[in-house]
Amino acid sequence: MNKEIKRDGQTVSKIFDNRSLEKDYRTLVPLLKPGLKVLDVGCGTGAISKGIAKQVGPKGSVTGIDNTETFIISGKETYQEVSNLELIHADLFQFEPREKFDLIVSARTLQWLSNPKEALIKMKSLLKPGGQISILDYNHEAIEWVPSPPESMQLFYATFLRWRSDAGMNNQIAEDLPDYLKEAGFDSIEVLNSDEVYKKGDENFLSKIGIWSKVAGSTQMVEEGYLEDKNRLKAIEEYNQWIETDAEMMVMKLKEVRGIFKKIENNDIRSRMPFC
Ligand SMILES: C[S@@+](CC[C@H](N)C(=O)[O-])C[C@H]1O[C@@H](n2cnc3c(N)ncnc32)[C@H](O)[C@@H]1O
Repeated sequence: MNKEIKRDGQTVSKIFDNRSLEKDYRTLVPLLKPGLKVLDVGCGTGAISKGIAKQVGPKGSVTGIDNTETFIISGKETYQEVSNLELIHADLFQFEPREKFDLIVSARTLQWLSNPKEALIKMKSLLKPGGQISILDYNHEAIEWVPSPPESMQLFYATFLRWRSDAGMNNQIAEDLPDYLKEAGFDSIEVLNSDEVYKKGDENFLSKIGIWSKVAGSTQMVEEGYLEDKNRLKAIEEYNQWIETDAEMMVMKLKEVRGIFKKIENNDIRSRMPFC
C-alpha cells in the first residue's frame, strides 16, 4: 500500500508549474519524434507533458495521468489550448486506456511508491510491443549542498529520508532503476546522468534550492510523530536565511533510465511453443 502524501495543492502546483521539459527532463528530448503517442505517469500539473506535446506535434499526442486531482484541475486550465494534450485524474494501477502507447515516461514519481516494480510492470502492459519506457528519478542520499546547510535543515532532511524509508520508499531509486527495469521485463536498458545543478547567480536559484523549505512546510511528519513542530519551523527559518546569505550551490542527483518492451518475433513464439 503506497503512503498517502498530503500535498499542499497551491505550493506544490507552483513547484511543478515552474518545471519544463527542456530544463527538468532534458535528456528525454532526443527520444521525442513527431507522431508518437506518449503517456506521462505522475504528470503533476502537466508542465513537462506540455513540452512533450509540442515535440511530438499535431500527429502525436500526450496523455498525462496523476492521482492528485488538484494538479489535474490546475493543469487542465493552464494548458487548455494545447490540443494534443489530455490530462486525466487517474491512478496508474487503475488506468485502463483504450489504446496502448509508443512511449511511457514518468518523472520524479516512482520515488513516492513502495511498489515501483509493480508500477513498471503495469506501465509495460500499457506499451505497444517495441515501445519504450523512460523513468527519471532521484538519488536523495547523494544530494550536495555547498556549503553545508544549517544543522536544523540537515536534521530535517535526515528525518525526511527516514520517514520515506519507513514508508517503503527507496531514497536512492535512481541507482536501482536499471535492475528494476530488467526485472520488469524491459530490454536494452540505458542510463543517462540528469543531475539538477543550481548555482548562485543562476536564474531561479533561490526558488529551486528553496524546495526544501517548501517540503518542510508540510506538517505531515510532525503529525506522524517524526519531528517536533518547533524543529520543523526552525529548519525553515534558518534554511531561508542560509539561502539568502551563504548558499553557493545545490546538486540534486537524478538519472534517466530507459528500456524497450521488446517485440516478440514470430521465430521467438515458435521456439517458445515446442508443440507447434
Ligand atoms: C513529484 S511529482 C512529479 C510531477 C512531474 N512529473 C514533475 O516531474 O514535475 C509526483 C507525482 O506523481 C503523482 N502520483 C503518485 N503516485 C501516483 C499513482 N499511483 N498514479 C498516478 N500518479 C501518481 C503525484 O500525485 C505527484 O503529482
